[in-house]
Amino acid sequence: MRTRVGARAIVARMSSQGTPPGPDERTGNLVDSIRYAAAFFRDPFEFVGRRFARYGDVYFAPAKGVGLYVVRHPAQLREVLITHADAYAKSHSALESLSVLLGDGLLTSDGEVWRRHRRILNPAFSRQAISAAVPRMVAETERTAARFGRGQSFDATFEMTDLTLRIVGHALLGIDLEDEVRVVGRSMSTLQTALAVPRSLPAVARWPVEQVVHRAVSELDRVIERVVHNRRSKPSAQVDLLQMLLDATDPENKDVHLSAREVRDELVTFLLAGHETTSNTLAWALYLLAKHPEVMRACQAEVDAVLAGRTCKSEDLERLTLVEQVIKETMRLYPPAYVLARRAISDTTIGDYAVAAGSEVVLWIYFTHRDERWFPKAEQFDPARFNKESEEARPKLAYLPFGAGGRACIGKVFASVEASVALATLLKRHSFELRGADKVTPKARITLTPQNLRLWAVPR
Ligand code: HEM
Repeated sequence: MRTRVGARAIVARMSSQGTPPGPDERTGNLVDSIRYAAAFFRDPFEFVGRRFARYGDVYFAPAKGVGLYVVRHPAQLREVLITHADAYAKSHSALESLSVLLGDGLLTSDGEVWRRHRRILNPAFSRQAISAAVPRMVAETERTAARFGRGQSFDATFEMTDLTLRIVGHALLGIDLEDEVRVVGRSMSTLQTALAVPRSLPAVARWPVEQVVHRAVSELDRVIERVVHNRRSKPSAQVDLLQMLLDATDPENKDVHLSAREVRDELVTFLLAGHETTSNTLAWALYLLAKHPEVMRACQAEVDAVLAGRTCKSEDLERLTLVEQVIKETMRLYPPAYVLARRAISDTTIGDYAVAAGSEVVLWIYFTHRDERWFPKAEQFDPARFNKESEEARPKLAYLPFGAGGRACIGKVFASVEASVALATLLKRHSFELRGADKVTPKARITLTPQNLRLWAVPR
């Protein structure tokens, strides 16, 4: 392995500008590695925020291999995700842990495997397929609302996770995850916590974590096996994501189907990527509305006017503009995928800086979204930032909760529709209140999760 001093020297040779500014961490020193990992693990936002404040929009941290570039400016995000996207792959060390779980699924694969799977799966997210899923989104949300009854308190993260898992199960896999929902939810939650443990820790310290991961993955795999077995023995008329995976053939040879492993990897990927992010968005949206009752009342007035007491339909969405703005503003303050990661696979540049093949890049969209240059009074909740004029006045990549470029979220429209439908349906029946500590801290797991968020649902 190259030393970190070597890393700087290699990059400096390539660039007239040298490396970006950054901390001068020593290498190969176990105590230092543990100290930095611990500081990051304790509060990644404080740790990274301090560095951006000190070094500016891009900084360089010596790390494994050639080094780590940390960026937040929309112009740099554009370079990495769009203009120079071919120079990068997903094989970042931060994604190694996730790959243990997701294998070669769409989120973590690259190259031809990724291209082929994305082609196969795109039709599952057509507008038509998403509209067809709206009645199920409404029905599942109404089941959740019915559980709130009269003035119930509830754990928002738990309830929204349960809801979005049931929706993704029905809409994409054609299964009632009711029986499995607890198992899947529990495994996912265990994995979220376990996978956040830094891989830089010594193997002996990681051993107990590996065991937890192994058990959770096995549990999840058993659910997937049952789902696939049931569908193969009783094919469905519904052409959903599961059926597309089972029916997909090799364009060169129609007799060649995806392997059992490929199908498994995609199903786990979609179960994880398809519920956790939307559930966090909904939980944070309820929290922000509870903190801003005047915005909640305005949303309820909009919902009452548009729905006039009936259930939400996909045609209603274009008139639920405030609900949509609340969802967008929620994802600005609490982007579920708060950081994106890439590895350079060929030499490239970020601005004036050379980036050698092998370097790692992390894109802290959490900080892009809270940058005063694009979002004045950035810490404040203000859905009006997403009216048409304000949106057009900002650099396009100042806001990217779904990523950008070829690897942007395949579920973007599905998730946006689901979040608006679910929020409108919840607000129709209940108001939400925080009765207790009104500061809820985000927990940086694979996604940005509200910790201990207890809300009260008050019937209207
Ligand atoms: C609020 C909800 C969601 C947010 C904020 C979100 C965010 C993201 C982001 C930022 C990426 C890009 C990652 C990168 O560039 O490294 C991504 C990719 C992905 N998302 Fe989502 N997502 C959401 C919902 C969904 C849903 C509902 C599904 C599926 C049903 C889904 C499936 C995926 C998949 C499979 C990828 C990988 C796409 C590829 O590389 O081709 N996501 N998501």
